[in-house]
Amino acid sequence: MPKSLLSSARSAALDAFGEPPSVIAQAPARVELLGNHTDHNGGLVLAAAIDRYTVIAGCASEGRHAAVRSTNLAGIDAFAIDHLVPGEPGAWGQYVRGVTWALGETHGPLRSGFEAALAGNVPLGGGLSSSASLQAAFALFLIAAGCVPDLNPELNDEDRMALAKILRRSENAFVGVASGLLDQFSSLFGRAGHALTLDCRTLAYERLPLGNPAIVVIDSATSRKLADGMYNIRRGECEAVVRYFQDKRGADRVQSLRDVSLDELRTEWSHLEPEPRRRARHVLTENDRVTRGATALRSGNLAEFGKLMTASHASSRDDFDNSSEALDALIASAEISPGFLGGKLSGAGWAGCTVNLVQPELAEEFAASVCEEYIKKTGLVPTIHICHAAEGAWGKSVSTKE
Ligand code: GLA
Repeated sequence: MPKSLLSSARSAALDAFGEPPSVIAQAPARVELLGNHTDHNGGLVLAAAIDRYTVIAGCASEGRHAAVRSTNLAGIDAFAIDHLVPGEPGAWGQYVRGVTWALGETHGPLRSGFEAALAGNVPLGGGLSSSASLQAAFALFLIAAGCVPDLNPELNDEDRMALAKILRRSENAFVGVASGLLDQFSSLFGRAGHALTLDCRTLAYERLPLGNPAIVVIDSATSRKLADGMYNIRRGECEAVVRYFQDKRGADRVQSLRDVSLDELRTEWSHLEPEPRRRARHVLTENDRVTRGATALRSGNLAEFGKLMTASHASSRDDFDNSSEALDALIASAEISPGFLGGKLSGAGWAGCTVNLVQPELAEEFAASVCEEYIKKTGLVPTIHICHAAEGAWGKSVSTKE
């Protein structure tokens, strides 16, 4: 746990509530290495948790009230734990309330209220899933604080999968964002030096050795305001293709794009609308790239894995239309920089960050070169984060004297 984050969460909790925190929790952000927009299509994803975190410090409190303070963003969110309403759209407090709500829905009313402060170093709004990291850290805090009935803080993988689904539900049903399972899964299942695969239809998963490449996340300095609306439009386009195949083959045989093969898509190409069919081609070729990427990792072939990432970016750009001039310029700059193995946009797309795999000894040189090239191409100044694959979320009790 980064000491500076922990001490800022602890002192914020002490300042705000006058009590030294007795529970701490942390959860990592994630990068999507392959499998872009496959999760909401019942497809395959390959991701990694990274060493950028949300950290929470606090304690259970008497009564049925909660108060949460953020050290990054202003204010304290105070609410009654038995009467949860989402509150201001887009505010970080919605995620906190959503987790409280969803845990209560599944496990019964929380045993008590709580007071907590959160600190984090996950770049916001860049496609690294700061929100899932907040959700997972917060859930682990509540569990370790003993607020959630019948949930032991020593979570095994089965518990973690159940929790990922609860967190997804809180985002879908409470916050109102129609996301897939990728983000919460990655934050909960991360492992240092490993990537994660997830089959979003069966929920089968695997931790695959990634070695120690630098995972270089580059923020394009462009904002993602468009992304939420576009996300839902793309979902609708994918669903239109599913409906076409349902009409042809029966709804029971086609539940998602996962039930459609690339060959079938090619055969029906001329009957499908131009945009939906390209969206579907992106999703189906991404599934294939995840399968090939997993094989490459099993044989330690990072060069091959990197090529698949760059091919994924091209498919996002050309078929899913979720790239942008800035993201394309970042990838073009990365391709001519030292140590580059592969790179693509990260997360929903349209703006935000790219994620690049880079030979670790060349990471600094790579960063300097991309920065220079990108400024030359766009006049924008990128922010660069050199990261590594990290452990998943945890929470624990601590001595209040530490
Ligand atoms: C966002 C969503 C994820 C996933 C990606 C695209 O990050 O939150 O669930 O759909 O976009 O792959």
